[in-house]
Amino acid sequence: MPGDLLKRTDETIRYIRLKTGLQPEIGLVLGSGLGALGDRLEDPCIIPYEELPHFLKSTAPGHQGRMIIGRLKGKTLLCMQGRFHYYEGYTMPQITYPVRVMARLGIKTLILTNACGGLKGEFSPGDLMLITDHINFMGMNPLIGPNEDDFGPRFQDMTTAYTPALAALARKTAAELGIPLREGVYLGYSGPSFETPAEIRLFQSFGASAVGMSTVPEAIVARQSGLRLLGLSCVTNLAAGILDQPISGEEVIEAANKAGEKFIRLLTEIIGRI
Ligand code: HPA
Repeated sequence: MPGDLLKRTDETIRYIRLKTGLQPEIGLVLGSGLGALGDRLEDPCIIPYEELPHFLKSTAPGHQGRMIIGRLKGKTLLCMQGRFHYYEGYTMPQITYPVRVMARLGIKTLILTNACGGLKGEFSPGDLMLITDHINFMGMNPLIGPNEDDFGPRFQDMTTAYTPALAALARKTAAELGIPLREGVYLGYSGPSFETPAEIRLFQSFGASAVGMSTVPEAIVARQSGLRLLGLSCVTNLAAGILDQPISGEEVIEAANKAGEKFIRLLTEIIGRI
């Protein structure tokens, strides 16, 4: 219901505080097949989404559907093992609700991760990509509707959506760890069907480097909420038509799982340095 966002977020936050007694400083959304980092948190306090007031059910494969609050490299993290997608039939305000909660909970930095299809011939499955900017091709915007001014301005600036200082930190950390890190523009597509080769050619002509079915709505709300934002993608496949082979959801999860250790090493070190 519009108009009661304040009340709802407060109810969710009260439950998190009561259950954990912790004040997280960094939010981390783990994408398809990338949930394993959540299992590395120390002294974890786990809250399944079903338990959390006003949270939705996670229906996407490779998304465990739970919040884990715990410590990693001396930081207190709120980790979402699984997110909500537009293609699940939820509304944009529904899928971005967790970001509203994190911001009101006092989190200052949000890290959004995802599995994506590479649009560049030189990309390979398993590559990690720093998101430098995005294109909203979902045909929807999470800020549409009555604006609740307590949560930020309606006409949100998106000039530097992905915080340059965090991008610089990610580049430097990857270089020091010897982990190759690609970078580029992420294009958000509603899904759940994968794209056609004609759509992929269009997206390439837009200057996008990767395509996926998440992240963009959360990034918009994160910026409206004043959060510092870092976006990291795992390229799980080359997008439709680049190779002469079909794409499957299973392949996406499998490739993300395979890249998991490298992804965890990089992300853990970045978190320690934030
Ligand atoms: N397209 C859209 N979303 C994706 C893809 C893709 O090729 N791979 C992983 N997520």
